[in-house]
Amino acid sequence: MKPPIILINYKAYENSYGERGYEISRKIEKVSKEYGVPVIVTVPATMIYKLSKETELIVYAQHVDGLEHGAKTGSILPEMVKDAGGKGSLLNHSERRIRLDEIHDAVIRMRKIGLESVVCVDRYELVYSMGILKPDAILIEPPELIGSGVAVSKAKPEVITKAVDEIKKVPGVYLVAGAGITSGEDVYKAVELGADGIGVASAVMRAKEPERVVAEFINQALKALEKRS
Ligand code: G3P
Repeated sequence: MKPPIILINYKAYENSYGERGYEISRKIEKVSKEYGVPVIVTVPATMIYKLSKETELIVYAQHVDGLEHGAKTGSILPEMVKDAGGKGSLLNHSERRIRLDEIHDAVIRMRKIGLESVVCVDRYELVYSMGILKPDAILIEPPELIGSGVAVSKAKPEVITKAVDEIKKVPGVYLVAGAGITSGEDVYKAVELGADGIGVASAVMRAKEPERVVAEFINQALKALEKRS
């Protein structure tokens, strides 16, 4: 059984960077090791180097610019992420939308240098068209549920089931579901509905005991995968 995809998006919370960002990462790493399930953390660009060097987490950027080297002030190039030890990046998150051609350029550039890409979509109708760009995974998140505490798997299960139908048309691309995921039950349901894993932010980043939350999420994802197999 392949492990579930557990993607934790640090976003730009007060504890997403610096000493607090490091602390929460060590807690997540501990749980990941206990369960033997790799965890992807999408972190602020300033944290990629430290977390890649000092933890065994799979460290991603939250965004990259698929541009060539040169006079591009403020850009984060795939090569920079790779050089810092990052293994991939999110692209087109609802909070960091980019144009379709920019997504395509970034996916191509990342693949060329061996970085993984996870393209976000806000509706199942885009799963196939983004899927044919051949990212490693699509992360589907209805924007109205992001940070709401109301999980996509409960409030809009049809978004996941329809996305699962669409992803089957692009073999080799994984489907991850996110938005509002708060409980182990939300995770179980998302995976039971056919997602390969989950994307989460606030439930972990704002938790008093993030390690317990992550443990519960991994546990439920594993249970649901086992039931599916
Ligand atoms: O990328 C994951 C994120 O957008 C979901 O946010 O706070 O609803 O778990 P949240």
